[in-house]
Amino acid sequence: SVLAGRERDLAGRRVVISAGGTREALDPVRYIGNRSSGLQGYALARTAAARGAEVTLVAANVALPDPAGATVVRVESALDLRAAVFEAAENADAVVMAAAVADFRPTARSGSKIKKTSADPEPVHLTKNPDILAELCERRRNGGKPAPEVIAGFAAETDDVLANGRAKLARKGCDLLVVNQVGEGLAFGTPDNAAVVLVAGGEPVEIPRGPKEALADVVWDLIAPRLS
Ligand code: CTP
Ligand code: CA
Repeated sequence: SVLAGRERDLAGRRVVISAGGTREALDPVRYIGNRSSGLQGYALARTAAARGAEVTLVAANVALPDPAGATVVRVESALDLRAAVFEAAENADAVVMAAAVADFRPTARSGSKIKKTSADPEPVHLTKNPDILAELCERRRNGGKPAPEVIAGFAAETDDVLANGRAKLARKGCDLLVVNQVGEGLAFGTPDNAAVVLVAGGEPVEIPRGPKEALADVVWDLIAPRLS
């Protein structure tokens, strides 16, 4: 069966998975965040470990128990996540960026709690965060390090799913892009996902609505044969 072929097919492989959603601090008590639960990243970690991989899971603000057999590195912000992913990727065979990384962070972080006054507040100024996935791909392309054999990203799109996904795959320069369809009770915080995996130089692979574990196994099915 398909399942039998999966057994331990990642033995000896080192994989890095980012999961959850980053938080970008405004002051010691407040942040700008997103709705990522970490469920998909954790499912990727569990399935990879079950298939024999040595897993480092970089978890941003996830309220889930550590997956059995994975080394978990906890981070908060996009800059923290970048440092942890690059360190873990040093000797990794594959990196899967399932985390929702904030595109922007507050330009200034107040050292003390921002107080309410009678006037309306000042606008929040934002600065672009580095694109970790694009940077990983660019370093590999330029012959630099780290250079994992497979780099995969995730994208949540609400409209023009395929066209936006294709453009994103090309822009990032990664090998696989798992494009989730969000909305209609799918993706965020739910046990189910539906996706299409875009493959650089290949045909898209549709994954019908089902548990995040099943989607994770299909992602590893696509990654495993790309590892030498
Ligand atoms: N990503 C990243 N670093 C960022 C933003 C995103 O590594 N600063 C990664 C995510 O982990 C994900 C992939 O890039 O694997 C796609 O994220 P997405 O937000 O869909 O792409 P963006 O390029 O940020 O485009 P958009 O304008 O649609 O948000
Ligand atoms: Ca984004």
